[in-house]
Amino acid sequence: MSSPFSARGPFLEARGLVKSYDEGRVEALRGVDVEIDAGEFVAISGPSGSGKSTLLHLLGGLDTATQGKVLFKGSELGKAVDLDSYRSRQVGFIFQAFYLLPTLRALENVQVAMLALHENANHRAERAAALLREMGLRHA
Ligand SMILES: Nc1ncnc2c1ncn2[C@@H]1O[C@H](COP(=O)(O)OP(=O)(O)OP(=O)(O)O)[C@@H](O)[C@H]1O
Ligand SMILES: [Mg+2]
Repeated sequence: MSSPFSARGPFLEARGLVKSYDEGRVEALRGVDVEIDAGEFVAISGPSGSGKSTLLHLLGGLDTATQGKVLFKGSELGKAVDLDSYRSRQVGFIFQAFYLLPTLRALENVQVAMLALHENANHRAERAAALLREMGLRHA
């Protein structure tokens, strides 16, 4: 539900998301609408194969829908919002498989996704340390 306090509508919104695989043989999502407000904490639950990962991939700009759209602060992903900049600046994913680079320390692994942003190296390391601290992993 949209917050009465946000004049611009939901922070993140999906409208009529359809995602098919295998040339339409698999319908992973059949018209999903969702609205998420800033600061809202949302969990998606459902049986295995019900489309949770597919929905997260579309909301996170990792994949594109067969039909429907995702709006970030009212602007459509892949159109008004560039997917590369959305992924690198607005969205964070913690995957079930962590895909860590084994030769790098935790502090370095966190910085890998920031390397394309041309951030100052000190700022990058400080941001990585802050993120690890926030997750309770600063000692890692
Ligand atoms: N790349 C793909 N190619 C073909 N079918 C796929 C692909 N990814 C997902 N599917 C199918 O889409 C449906 C939804 O899958 P999805 O992975 O989103 O479910 P899930 O709810 O995340 O399941 P789980 O709880 O097992 O992680 C399933 O039928 C799955 O087999
Ligand atoms: Mg899944």
